[in-house]
Amino acid sequence: MSELHVFDHPLIQHKLSILRDKNTSVKEFRELVGEIAMLMCYEATRDLPLEEVEIETPVAKATVKRLAGKKLAIVPILRAGLGMVDGMVAMIPSCKVGHIGLYRDPETLEPVEYYCKLPPDITERDVIVVDPMFATGGSAAAACTFLKQHGCRHIKLMCIIGAPPAWEKMQKEHPDVDVYVAAMDPVLNDHGYIVPGLGDAGDRIFGTK
Ligand code: PRP
Ligand code: URA
Repeated sequence: MSELHVFDHPLIQHKLSILRDKNTSVKEFRELVGEIAMLMCYEATRDLPLEEVEIETPVAKATVKRLAGKKLAIVPILRAGLGMVDGMVAMIPSCKVGHIGLYRDPETLEPVEYYCKLPPDITERDVIVVDPMFATGGSAAAACTFLKQHGCRHIKLMCIIGAPPAWEKMQKEHPDVDVYVAAMDPVLNDHGYIVPGLGDAGDRIFGTK
């Protein structure tokens, strides 16, 4: 069964409080999304395997631990997921990045796919899907279905703010996918926006409203 990890780290919570504020500028919003992604990445990769290697320090021989070379891919859901990529890549410089373009139809709230480009060896990689918002869960679930259709087997989902309907949907449709969020807000409004949330993440990152 999948797990829901809610990060209560003070730095993440502090940055999230500024992100939610409607008076935060586009520049600051963009920077904060990247910084929160970086901090969340640190926690979401806690289970990466290590291996022991022999090295020599300037003082003595030592057996030390290094990442065991697990292959990773970050897959942002366009558009808003793009805001999280730089923070993740700063932490995992050797990862590859795929892109899945989905937008939510404003009437039905169903995700509509418009773009997909994945690394050719995606099936060999552990995938972390990133998207700031996890509201109905339609976009995240569709992205995971799509990745599984392309042969991906190990998928995690990292979002900044989630809501209960999204978590319920993911448990039903993708019980093998662990979900990482910085906060779980209580409800969605009639337009499918997370309340209190932070508004439209894509618009706030790209300044399109
Ligand atoms: C937002 C957000 C998620 C989706 C979340 O994208 O970035 O992808 O909504 O909602 P859901 O959980 O109900 O699917 P949007 O459709 O607004 O597209 P955008 O990123 O291009 O602005
Ligand atoms: N998409 C957003 O950008 N914000 C929400 O609150 C819900 C979906």
